[in-house]
Amino acid sequence: MTQQKTILRALAGETLPTPPIWMMRQAGRYLPEYKATRAQAGDFLSLCYNPELAAEVTLQPIRRYGFDAAILFADILLLPQALGADLWFVTGEGPRLSTITDANGLAQLKPIEAIHETLNPVYETVKILSQELPKETTLIGFAGAPWTVATYMIAGKGTPDQGPAHALKAENRAVFAGIIDRLTEGTIAYLSKQIEAGAEVVKLFDSWAGSLQGDDFADFSIKPMQKITAAIKEKHPEIPVIAFPRGAGEKYAGVHAATGADCVALDDGVDAAWAAEHVQIDGCVQGNLKSSHMVTGGQDLIDETRRICDAFSKGPHIFNLGHGITPDANPDNVQLMIDTVRGG
Ligand code: CP3
Repeated sequence: MTQQKTILRALAGETLPTPPIWMMRQAGRYLPEYKATRAQAGDFLSLCYNPELAAEVTLQPIRRYGFDAAILFADILLLPQALGADLWFVTGEGPRLSTITDANGLAQLKPIEAIHETLNPVYETVKILSQELPKETTLIGFAGAPWTVATYMIAGKGTPDQGPAHALKAENRAVFAGIIDRLTEGTIAYLSKQIEAGAEVVKLFDSWAGSLQGDDFADFSIKPMQKITAAIKEKHPEIPVIAFPRGAGEKYAGVHAATGADCVALDDGVDAAWAAEHVQIDGCVQGNLKSSHMVTGGQDLIDETRRICDAFSKGPHIFNLGHGITPDANPDNVQLMIDTVRGG
């Protein structure tokens, strides 16, 4: 029955005449209905922890556009919060966290079993969604990959070059590796609960993978994602995993095999024709239209959408952007992208 869902068919390796489509950050500030619900919730974190309202914003882009997948509305930084970090969002600036910089900070993190107390509302959102989504729509759960989440826990905020995390890695390898290991275990527990609540696919966001050079890419992006994927597949062999090592460039080649993921999500830094040859040969790919087309629209959007669909037409492909849609996007351009994908 579920294999009728186009996203699951693509993830199982099927080449479809029309790629299924969803969009990173599809529930977001470019939509007036999202802004209204967020205002009702009060702030972003209150929205994440309110199951009814989080389910509502997840459903909004499905109602408006009929995407083939819905992604759970939450954030990658809820896991560090559940492990004991303070977390808040500064309007117009982004996330802020208490920092971990030494063995003492690592020792103060809560044990893995304790995370669910904080994260229960997220599992509740998944349960509501698995009941309310149209039967053809796939529900995607997610977590941040350990490296990306660690960059925020160490710096206490987003950083352009992830400098503080690189510095800790160089200066105190044991503490750095301890944070990565704790996040790996926490992510396995978190995603397992999302799956038990009804998530049909899980995605790992390694948004800052691109700043890991040399062996570090294999050690701190690939290896933790491989461990998480293996643990998920041991418990839930039927659940597909999408890995998103953003900014990997040429190192995207081989990521399916190295992580064990069913699908590799591509950012817009790699050319679709190159990726068809070097990444899609190993399995399903997702991506990779530049998000800025959702702002600018027009013939360029149509041409680029068609070029990407053509480049990936000989293998399994899920259409998506290369990164999240931005708040300045025009909702009409999203419709134009969907019409172009579905209408040729
Ligand atoms: O894709 C989706 O719609 C699912 C929900 C989702 C959000 N964040 C909601 C969100 C997902 C999958 C994420 C992932 C996430 N969060 C990542 C990895 C993906 C990426 O974008 O690189 C990262 C690095 C974060 C951390 C985070 N959360 C930052 C840096 C920010 C602030 C940036 C901004 O756009 O303001 C957030 C906030 C956030 N997460 C928003 C949303 C819809 C905007 C919050 C708001 O409504 O004000």
